[in-house]
Amino acid sequence: MSPNVITTPVRAMLVLGTRPEAIKLAPVARAMAASPLFDPVVVTTGQHREMLHQMLDLLQVEVRVELDVMRERQELSTLTARLVDGLGEVVRQERPDVVVVQGDTTSALTGALAAFYEHIPVAHVEAGLRTGVLDNPFPEELNRRLIGRMARWHFAPTPRAAGHLTAEGVPDAEVFVTGNTVIDNLLWVLDQDAGTDLFRTDLRRVLVTLHRRENQGEKMRAMGRALRQLADRGDVELVLPLHKSPAVREALLPELSEHPHIRVVEPLGYADFSATLAGCDLVLTDSGGIQEEAPSLGKPALVLRTTTERPEAVEAGAARLVGTEPQAILDAAVRLLDDEAEYERMATAGNPFGDGHATDRIVAQLAEDFGADADAVPVAGRCSADGVIVPQPDGPGSYSTA
Ligand code: UD1
Ligand code: UDP
Repeated sequence: MSPNVITTPVRAMLVLGTRPEAIKLAPVARAMAASPLFDPVVVTTGQHREMLHQMLDLLQVEVRVELDVMRERQELSTLTARLVDGLGEVVRQERPDVVVVQGDTTSALTGALAAFYEHIPVAHVEAGLRTGVLDNPFPEELNRRLIGRMARWHFAPTPRAAGHLTAEGVPDAEVFVTGNTVIDNLLWVLDQDAGTDLFRTDLRRVLVTLHRRENQGEKMRAMGRALRQLADRGDVELVLPLHKSPAVREALLPELSEHPHIRVVEPLGYADFSATLAGCDLVLTDSGGIQEEAPSLGKPALVLRTTTERPEAVEAGAARLVGTEPQAILDAAVRLLDDEAEYERMATAGNPFGDGHATDRIVAQLAEDFGADADAVPVAGRCSADGVIVPQPDGPGSYSTA
């Protein structure tokens, strides 16, 4: 037998802690579970409880190990300590060949750290995103930079993200441009046609999500007031699936309750959320994942933040970074609702985040590097500049309204 053939499946530990990690690692877990080359060990950290568990069945992710670390109003320091401890134990018991983490959450950071301490190589999915501002988003910008120091495989969603890594000294041979797995999963879920669109009227349909730590408190309350003013126009229907975070609820609920054109609902399962996104006219969000999904469905996105690590959508013209000032939010939303030409420009700008095959590239690269026979690997290779993933100028960069 050739030395290039995997004789036992690669034991890959996938760490999922929050809703977006479940969504973005689900296609990787499914692909590995379907391949004789891999033995995926999915570990849920429980950083999110309800919002993680409501995802897993639909996403067909089979969980092997469950931690239960979530506490009400968890502090970053105690959450981090509990996770390093818990994940360290899991890594020692499971002895994976590789630990796969996604994005920039506390679960991802501690998954990488726990692996590093046990000399297990780390694969980072959605690597290389940067705003260039260490505490915005907080603490995610620090988390992803730290993971970048530990990873052996950096799966960058776009050429720009890859450029950030090489500018930081990561060797070219460890950086792979793949597209974002969120697109793979979105297409997979929409294909099943299992969701319900939450909008109820024929008014202009605005989907809103807000949750970022750096926006919580008075800033988020003021954003809530701007949303209420938007609804006061009378010709829009706002749907806002509310994050479980008590800090988010305290800020937004008083501002948004009892308005005939605002529906505040519990966090939606992924099928319903995707259907609602597909059914909306406009998105207002501070979410990372939704900045990637909206352009794939031709939905203009107003990003309610002062920085974004996803400037590709802004450059493509599919998203606008409008900041967190209430008047700026209101003006930007009104402009899009009233200016048909501007709306059309954004709605047709296209999606710079992938072609739906990021997972294939990630799984193929790992299989090859663990010695799989090239014939056994389904699809290999990097994303090319084929018009789907649009190359961006190299080097670090960020967008800022400041
Ligand atoms: C975390 C991630 C952030 C990501 C977001 C996704 C970090 C540092 N940040 O945000 O990058 O965008 O998740 O939503 O990891 N809660 C519940 N039930 C749930 C989920 C959360 O009650 O199902 C509560 C928790 O008790 C916590 C609060 O919501 O007190 C916030 O959760 P947390 O994981 O700490 O979220 P963030 O750090 O805000
Ligand atoms: N999402 C969902 N239900 C909701 C709100 C969001 O399934 O009620 C999905 C959304 O499609 C996206 C992801 O959750 O894929 C984004 O999660 P979040 O905004 O919490 O985190 P971020 O992407 O900002 O890290």
